[in-house]
Amino acid sequence: MMDPSHQIGWWGQSEADDAAFAVAYLHRLRFTRDAFDVTNPLLSDILITDGDSPARVLVFVDGGVANAWPDLDNRISRYASAYADRMILAGPPCTVAGGEVSKNDWSVFEAVARAIKDTSICRYSYVLVIGGGAVLDTVGFAAATAHRGVRLVRLPTTTLSQADSGVGVKNGINAFGKKNFLGTFAPPWAVINDEVFLSTLSDRDWRCGLSEAVKVALVKSERFFEQIVAGVPRLRKRDHSALRPVIRRSAEIHFRHIVDGGDPFELREGKPLDFGHWSAHKLEEMTNFCLKHGEAVAIGVALDVVYSAMSGLLEWSDVKRILDCLTGLGLAVSHQALADSDVLLEGLESFREHLGGRLTITLLNGVGRPVDVHEIDRPVMIQAADWLRAAAARRAVWHTL
Ligand SMILES: NC(=O)c1ccc[n+]([C@@H]2O[C@H](COP(=O)([O-])OP(=O)(O)OC[C@H]3O[C@@H](n4cnc5c(N)ncnc54)[C@H](O)[C@@H]3O)[C@@H](O)[C@H]2O)c1
Ligand SMILES: [Zn+2]
Repeated sequence: MMDPSHQIGWWGQSEADDAAFAVAYLHRLRFTRDAFDVTNPLLSDILITDGDSPARVLVFVDGGVANAWPDLDNRISRYASAYADRMILAGPPCTVAGGEVSKNDWSVFEAVARAIKDTSICRYSYVLVIGGGAVLDTVGFAAATAHRGVRLVRLPTTTLSQADSGVGVKNGINAFGKKNFLGTFAPPWAVINDEVFLSTLSDRDWRCGLSEAVKVALVKSERFFEQIVAGVPRLRKRDHSALRPVIRRSAEIHFRHIVDGGDPFELREGKPLDFGHWSAHKLEEMTNFCLKHGEAVAIGVALDVVYSAMSGLLEWSDVKRILDCLTGLGLAVSHQALADSDVLLEGLESFREHLGGRLTITLLNGVGRPVDVHEIDRPVMIQAADWLRAAAARRAVWHTL
């Protein structure tokens, strides 16, 4: 006889009470030049007024951006005054510490949450965050959890955040020594990529976004990879006309992956946009974040590319093309931390645990042809790390491939 508990739980409900539901989101991505020019209505147009009242906006500015753009607060205030029928500042713009330090403890998160409370921001108001990927992540996490989610407009100011992270639907901070341990999936209200801000980036941060563009090209489009390769000398020289289409294409591929890929909240096994990231996140932790995310991604991509070739998946001629591209952009493809293979390989389990389910690592079958595997041959991965260290010490190693 069938156990009745299979049909009706002790709480008295049957499976007939199960019901799927979906929430529709609108992902808005805009490209512009000088968003705070009073003749540029783009930002004000994106905000929905609250009945007859203008939208209330609380602004957070990355400290690095505030230093580089000393007049920014005034420009934001003048802009809000020019569009007073559509928006009103809930308070003066707040500057928060820029860089990974903003993610490494609770202080920035707490300051942002407190400011949201103190200025009575509600779920129909807006938080506008202007900054690099780290500040977008921290402010985004606070905005996503205050009142269980207030509207967030992101204005990314680095190559990496414009090409990659700003367009995504994730936020978070590092905790207990683990990268992005706390965070949520929370689509922003809008993302505005304003190329003007990129002019004040350090050379190091300028390069960081290029590694994510190479990453997305490798897993999504050989044509885009070739476009990057063709632009290497100009990209290296910070030529904006070469950078503009690369940022745009990278952002659009990320955008389409989220909107059309059928898995915006990463519930499935394969996460191609995390190519090279299992080791990248571990390398950031191992170097106490001396390696920046974009730098770690370049090394992580290089490592999985070499491993793909050593596993017989990828031609060595493709390895050469990819390593030439990364190094041509000024990105290192090796680091001494690769020598600590025991700790490095712990990154595989951290990655699995962070993403859930069984281990799924994206490798390459060719440029633009990702393939997921569920096992990594550890001795071969160690060999790949050793190969990269030797190659970096003597670049000729891959030039003879
Ligand atoms: N949420 C996601 O989906 C996602 C995806 C990829 C990366 N990330 C995260 O993004 C972070 C890296 O972001 P990043 O590469 O933008 O670095 P970053 O945010 O650390 O910024 C780099 C430095 O540049 C400064 N800065 C920012 N904009 C500037 C400007 N216009 N002019 C002068 N200085 C400026 C910052 O103050 C900081 O010191 C990492 O924490 C990474 O984990 C998140
Ligand atoms: Zn990344």
